[in-house]
Amino acid sequence: MSRSTGASQRALRPVAPGDRGRLHVAIIMDGNGRWAKRRGLPRAFGHREGVAALRRTVEAAPDFGIERLTVFGFSTENWRRPPPEVSELMSLMKAYFHSDLGRLARGGVRIRILGRREGLEPEILKIVEEAERRTASNDRFHLQVAFNYGGRADIVDAARAFAQQVADGRAAPDDLDEALFERGLSTAPASAPDLIIRTSGERRLSNFLLWECAYSELVFQDVLWPDYGPEALKAAVADFHGRERRFGGAVVDDVLATG
Ligand code: FPP
Repeated sequence: MSRSTGASQRALRPVAPGDRGRLHVAIIMDGNGRWAKRRGLPRAFGHREGVAALRRTVEAAPDFGIERLTVFGFSTENWRRPPPEVSELMSLMKAYFHSDLGRLARGGVRIRILGRREGLEPEILKIVEEAERRTASNDRFHLQVAFNYGGRADIVDAARAFAQQVADGRAAPDDLDEALFERGLSTAPASAPDLIIRTSGERRLSNFLLWECAYSELVFQDVLWPDYGPEALKAAVADFHGRERRFGGAVVDDVLATG
């Protein structure tokens, strides 16, 4: 079994600060509940405003050189929230694609849903599959929605996929390297995020893109997600462009030169 393919090398290829195009940005959209609480409203109102913020952010992203946006819509841990809130988040996912899929598809956006499909209700599965099928040939912009996603679960699933290949005699344990392993992640074959943003002032990754974040730049912003929009995104990208990415020691120009 071959160790690494051209495709997997491309997947690992980073974007340098200053390279104004083709950025992969991932966002932990945090603060919906606090936004609602501050206004004396139920949390559901914060989530609904969160969808509006997502819409604004997707719209603005290409203007800042972003070609792929990955957002954390629902984590494997979010099932622990009160059932009415879980149900509200499921409804918003459905409503978002019902209302926006046509426009996104016509606008050349390719949609992918990351995470486990098991446990999702049939109506969500149907809309998720339709969104992926209808946009499969688009490539102007990539929108990835992590839904029923957990970084650890995704790593476990990739490990299971490789273990199955070994059990089937299609691979030997020694074949495993990083490039082969990451082909089993739900993000494959996309690039790892260059920049991960978390809103609301919290400073953790909360099980988001644990494998993929190895060399991502992290930007934490105080703005609550429902207030997010082009200005905040512009500021985060500007912060990214001011960083020096060293990837464990080498200067970024050397990394890019050698692939
Ligand atoms: C965190 O805010 C946000 C979420 C758990 C869900 C994010 C969901 C949306 C933006 C809306 C719908 C999404 C899609 C994909 C259509 P929080 O509730 O944890 O806020 P808090 O920390 O202030 O309580």
